Amino acid sequence: MSKQHLKVAVLISGTGSNLKALINAVNQQGLELHIAKVISNRAAAPGIAHAVDAGIPVSVISHADYPDRQAHDSAVMNVLQEAQVELVILAGYMRILGEEFTHAYSGRMINLHPSLLPKYKGLDTYNRVLQSGDSETGASIHFVTAGLDSGPVISQVRIPVFANDDATSLAARLGPIEHKLVVATVELFCSRKVHYDQGRVLHEGQVIEQPLQLNNDGTFD
Ligand code: GAR
Repeated sequence: MSKQHLKVAVLISGTGSNLKALINAVNQQGLELHIAKVISNRAAAPGIAHAVDAGIPVSVISHADYPDRQAHDSAVMNVLQEAQVELVILAGYMRILGEEFTHAYSGRMINLHPSLLPKYKGLDTYNRVLQSGDSETGASIHFVTAGLDSGPVISQVRIPVFANDDATSLAARLGPIEHKLVVATVELFCSRKVHYDQGRVLHEGQVIEQPLQLNNDGTFD
């Protein structure tokens, strides 16, 4: 592990397919990323197995074991503090974080969301896309600020919505493309090309007016 490797923690609640995509990118594509810790708020999250298989230390910090959000957030922050990570990646971490947490990691925490933010924050995104009649949808990665799925958007990827789509088919098509987005976006952090500056996203030193758009070839516009 070279000194340049970006040291991160990945927080999950469920399947962990995005975590797995990052692990694969490290092992197969030489992504200069050091996943120092995986934290799950659910002991039964299937994604934990991906971390265990890869030899990544896992902490299960179940929200059910804490009296309130603040106490649970503090426990997670303590583990992150010990791990001394540069970036926290929320990859399907289905907990709302309190302001103390988002403030402490301002500019150092990103979240994945399966919609073209600012559209469809929250849950049940695929059904809401279908009900709205949108002709396209996608996934977004944003810096985390206080508020649900909010904060400046760094990058997006778009897919068409077909007339015969249902939530299952949309999720199945978006999943692998979201994986490409997370790998390409984390690569920007690994190469220190993206930063947070006072509520804005800097890419190669320039404020971006629109989220970076991922192309089919895995590069950004
Ligand atoms: C991903 O699609 C991610 O965008 C979404 O949860 C899924 C996790 O999948 N996140 C949110 O909805 C956050 N509001 P995974 O566990 O297989 O990586």
